[in-house]
Amino acid sequence: MTDDELEAKLGDRDYYRPPAKFVGQANASDPAIYDQFDEFPEGFEAYAELLDWDEYWDETFDGSNPPFFEWFVGGKLNASYNCVDRHLDERGDQTALLWESEDTDERRRIAYQDLYREINEVAAALKDLGVEEDDVVTLHMPMLPELPITMLACARIGAPHSEVFAGFSADALATRIDDTESDIVVTVDGYYRRGEFLHHKQKADQAVEMAETDVDDVLVWTRHGPENLHEEAEMEDGRDILAEELLEDFQGARVDPVSRDAEDPLFLMYTSGTTGKPKGCQHRTGGYLAYATGTSKYVLDIKPEDTYWCAADIGWITGHSYIVYGPLSLGTTSVMREGAPDAPHKGVIWEMAERYDVDIFHTSPTAVRMFMKWGEEIVENYDFDFRHLTTVGEPIQPEVWEWYYEHIGGEDAVIVDTWWQTETGGHLITNLPALKDMKPGSAGIPCPGIEAGLVDDQGEEIEPATGQAGNLVIKRPWPGMLQTVYGDDERFIETYWEDFSDTESSDWSDWNYKAGDGAVHETDGYFRILGRLDDVMNVAGHRIGTMELESAAAEVSDVAEAAVAAREHDQKGEVPDVYVTVREGVEESDGVRSAIYEAIEDEIGAFARPANVIFVDELPKTRSGKIMRRLLEEISNDESLGNTSTLRDPSVPEQIREKVHGE
Ligand code: PRX
Repeated sequence: MTDDELEAKLGDRDYYRPPAKFVGQANASDPAIYDQFDEFPEGFEAYAELLDWDEYWDETFDGSNPPFFEWFVGGKLNASYNCVDRHLDERGDQTALLWESEDTDERRRIAYQDLYREINEVAAALKDLGVEEDDVVTLHMPMLPELPITMLACARIGAPHSEVFAGFSADALATRIDDTESDIVVTVDGYYRRGEFLHHKQKADQAVEMAETDVDDVLVWTRHGPENLHEEAEMEDGRDILAEELLEDFQGARVDPVSRDAEDPLFLMYTSGTTGKPKGCQHRTGGYLAYATGTSKYVLDIKPEDTYWCAADIGWITGHSYIVYGPLSLGTTSVMREGAPDAPHKGVIWEMAERYDVDIFHTSPTAVRMFMKWGEEIVENYDFDFRHLTTVGEPIQPEVWEWYYEHIGGEDAVIVDTWWQTETGGHLITNLPALKDMKPGSAGIPCPGIEAGLVDDQGEEIEPATGQAGNLVIKRPWPGMLQTVYGDDERFIETYWEDFSDTESSDWSDWNYKAGDGAVHETDGYFRILGRLDDVMNVAGHRIGTMELESAAAEVSDVAEAAVAAREHDQKGEVPDVYVTVREGVEESDGVRSAIYEAIEDEIGAFARPANVIFVDELPKTRSGKIMRRLLEEISNDESLGNTSTLRDPSVPEQIREKVHGE
């Protein structure tokens, strides 16, 4: 379908009004909020005022050195204090984290008071290990309460954390350790996935071996206590420390939260880009926490008395902002779960929603498509009642949206499609749910204070709200934006700013943030996100760089060249197809194919495993030798081939097509 056809189809779609039950109680119910935030930059002070500051800021925004913008300059605060300590008087006994395992008999309720105690003890233990303010602590933790506890302990002592999603391989972990030269790694012996007790610590062991950085300490949490260490886990003397044993020395310890400058980094989150090397998005303390808290309050509509469940993994930005920092800063009850959504059975999510009377549920379109495939019969067995449902991470097809609305929302919950990125810290395009009607397939209008627009490939502005497609840009800074790419200011400028900004200008308003996504700005002012325009794929909501996949495949010695194309997939959104040529004298074989799968799982992780490895005689290349991935993508998706006239050998795509689809 062409873009115009898609637009025409979507243009006919109905709007859905937010249910009265929602509107009456919403945190944001006065449309004046949009005007208030349009006062730039003062509007964003409303978010900062949701926090407790040790010292107020002198200047809300300093744009004098673009694109290195500063927020709440001169202010001081501590994120762990804001997420925990400040709630103790009013709700010390209230559950902060509600955790459940795949084995649903295994549950934990951690009250704010207990969270406070545990964070303090871990903070004391980290200090004892020599962690000082501004030291980066690398975490490689799955969905266990010890993950947010360790993150907040780091925040308490002013040590930026760098959590690496547990599904990442040892190689990927090593790369991230080296990028920050972090000399401490926090892991766990094992965790559960589909009933299997996975040996997780080995990845940290291998990563530490591989890394160039000398890692002095590996702090090892244990899933079943130090006496029941995973049977394959080995402890290395002098390096590995069992967390629970160390903590025995710090029972009841208290560590004063360090007063951090608003601009001091809070954490790093690595993400994929257009090169082989992932980027460390560096997030600041004040602006990030203010933005995560503000959007949690107004977009997610979180209230302290709610039970809120974001079914993402804390190893990605969604979990950082919307399982940990935003919800806890608002003093609510945040649910987390270990394991796969279909273990022990396909109804377990709804069983938990019923058990805990969850009010707000947050997931990805990939998950909704999966629930849809499993069938509504499964859902109907449970009695739950959501008032607010969020989606994030990928475009949601209107029919999937409608299923979610009807079968999960019972037609009386709002559905909030939130567009944002690792870099943006929090939501940028999504409706404030009581104030704007829902429209399936459109993320909605920009959040308060956010100015979004489209430009063409030359950077010329596209007339707003005319139904045209273009490159999505954010035209004004916001407090949640990344500070820089860790250790690489040049790359920060190149990746996000150079293309669509006047980089000679010292006026911040000449700088446009490039999102890397294409979007349509519909005539009603809503944005419909089309997806990445760069070499980044979105596989089941996981962001993967095609270059990372290609360089992993090229590690296999039999491979001469590899090129990756995104194939559309009805469940996962996109999946990678890897096209390879083999070296002279090498046979195309299942052995080589397996080696490629293995290399990708080793370098990145099993979640990046390609859908297909396709051997070809030649890759489509321009006369100057550039691989034309666009043609491979057209072949993978069985679309008609675009212009092939610039190819060195224009017959190559047809040969590949025959190989993939037959004659
Ligand atoms: O392409 C967009 C897509 O996910 C990318 C960001 O991925 P990541 O940094 O991993 O963060 C994901 C969670 C915030 C974007 O560039 N994306 C994110 N949200 C949406 C989306 N695409 C369409 N609709 C969304 N709501």
